[in-house]
Amino acid sequence: MSEFATVARVADVPPGAIFEAELDGESLLIVNAGGELFACDALCTHLDGPLSHGTLEGTVLRCPWHGSAFDLRSGEALNRPAHTPLACFPLTVTDGEIRVARG
Ligand code: FES
Repeated sequence: MSEFATVARVADVPPGAIFEAELDGESLLIVNAGGELFACDALCTHLDGPLSHGTLEGTVLRCPWHGSAFDLRSGEALNRPAHTPLACFPLTVTDGEIRVARG
């Protein structure tokens, strides 16, 4: 069973924010899509573009380098050049803390 670890506070990630956090020495993103929080890998599955500098459209995160978009609900790559899904992680909120299980 996965263990959840605190990576940020809810106050760090207001609606529309893409917050870069760290878990076990690796970067991950906490994204607030209209009040709904998601946790995912920080790097694009195409050529490791920095998704923290990407743009958010609803629950879709778009890479700043070549424009691939990922659905944060599933990780699905919605358009090329990326075709590998983005890793997304279970997340809980307890007492204002965002906790993530990386698997
Ligand atoms: S690195 Fe993200 S689309 Fe190319």
